[in-house]
Amino acid sequence: MPDRYAVVGNPIAHSKSPQIHAAFARTTGQDVSYERLLAPLDGFVATVEQFRREGGRGLNVTVPFKLEAFALAALHSSRAQLAGAVNTLHLEADGTWYGDNTDGAGLVRDLAHNLGIELRDARILVLGAGGATRGILGPLLDCLPRALAVSNRTHDKAVALARQFAPLGPIEAIAPAGLAGREFDLVVNSTSVGVVSAKHDWPASVFAPGSFAYDLVYSDEPTQFVRWAQQHGAARTADGLGMLIEQAAESFHLWRGVRPETMPVFALLRPR
Ligand code: ATR
Repeated sequence: MPDRYAVVGNPIAHSKSPQIHAAFARTTGQDVSYERLLAPLDGFVATVEQFRREGGRGLNVTVPFKLEAFALAALHSSRAQLAGAVNTLHLEADGTWYGDNTDGAGLVRDLAHNLGIELRDARILVLGAGGATRGILGPLLDCLPRALAVSNRTHDKAVALARQFAPLGPIEAIAPAGLAGREFDLVVNSTSVGVVSAKHDWPASVFAPGSFAYDLVYSDEPTQFVRWAQQHGAARTADGLGMLIEQAAESFHLWRGVRPETMPVFALLRPR
């Protein structure tokens, strides 16, 4: 019998995680199965516990349950603690859940390793101050950028995040209006703009010559943010498919102790 893993969320039908983990299992020779679990909005814990009773060994957790997964875990990695959210649950020998957050590591790995972006000494702008942003700020600051700005429609939330993460590096909150005249080497869309098509008020002048625009949203077509960035001076762009695959590889490593190759999976999901 293969060891059972799954991704839990609501909705979940669109998730690419089963395809990604099936490819990892094939290439590493690990005997695992990986399925989708749709949890009712008020039934996250019940769904996870039933999965555990049926032999489940680990879970990826996606929208909207990352905070509930944090609350469920008995122990947390330091990066999950910092993010205040859990995207990976690992069953311990004593039957409790260990909670990790591999999102930020996945983003940094995609940027630095796959896309060849120099993060050290870079001027970085992160748009948004929700749960996704909370997961990526620590790993980005670990890369020693020259400056990391957080900008959010609701400015108070950016101010609160900047205050919380200030001990880790040079982070500041900038209101959207204050972005005019500022330039960045890397601009990351960590808002839900593009998940749902939406108006935004970011100035187009944020892209320094040669800058990179990265969208945490991913889609088979260019995303709303990627198109906007291309039209306003970003030299290069990418969407979040690479981050999705890299965070999955981090989870797989936590569960199985082996690190799968990610490039073949990227080619599988986005054939050129
Ligand atoms: P997630 O967990 O994906 O980060 P979230 O916590 O709901 O989701 O956060 C969504 C983010 O997208 C927030 O930063 C939100 O801004 P507000 O805090 O002002 O709500 C941002 N966002 C959503 N729609 C937006 C829009 N049209 N323009 C700019 N920012 C937007």
